[in-house]
Amino acid sequence: MKNETLLQVAEALLQSQPNQMARLANASAFLYDSFDHINWVGFYVYDGNQLTVGPFQGKVACAEIPLGKGVCGEAALKRKTMVVKDVHAHPNHITCDENSRSEVVVPIYKNDQLFGVLDVDSPIVDRFDQDIVRFFEEFVNIFIKTIDI
Ligand code: SME
Repeated sequence: MKNETLLQVAEALLQSQPNQMARLANASAFLYDSFDHINWVGFYVYDGNQLTVGPFQGKVACAEIPLGKGVCGEAALKRKTMVVKDVHAHPNHITCDENSRSEVVVPIYKNDQLFGVLDVDSPIVDRFDQDIVRFFEEFVNIFIKTIDI
């Protein structure tokens, strides 16, 4: 499916589910299923102190990430999407799955408040081009509309 179509499906999926945990769980499964060469995709949710792993697809991940730590913590703190072409060359990367080689993390903010991050990992160096990064950002924008914060 084209990215535009995937976003329409995502919007229908997210808007049809009132339970936040169910939305996050199905969102991670949807994203994992929609793209090749992804070995981890999921959410870290901010609890007021740090990021805690939420629904995801992939190998067991580190459960807690302080703000500023790892690519996830960095994206949350800087409030900007982080695209890491080669995680081995990024000192502030936390290794959860040693197969991961590149990563994109989109911070999720609503009304200037941090909800968490969307984290996507690939076993391929430089997996994430501009189009797919934009897709994940648009996906997050759709998700933001479904949350109360
Ligand atoms: N690599 C991440 C940690 C989370 S795992 O990839 C699932 C990071 O550096 O923030």
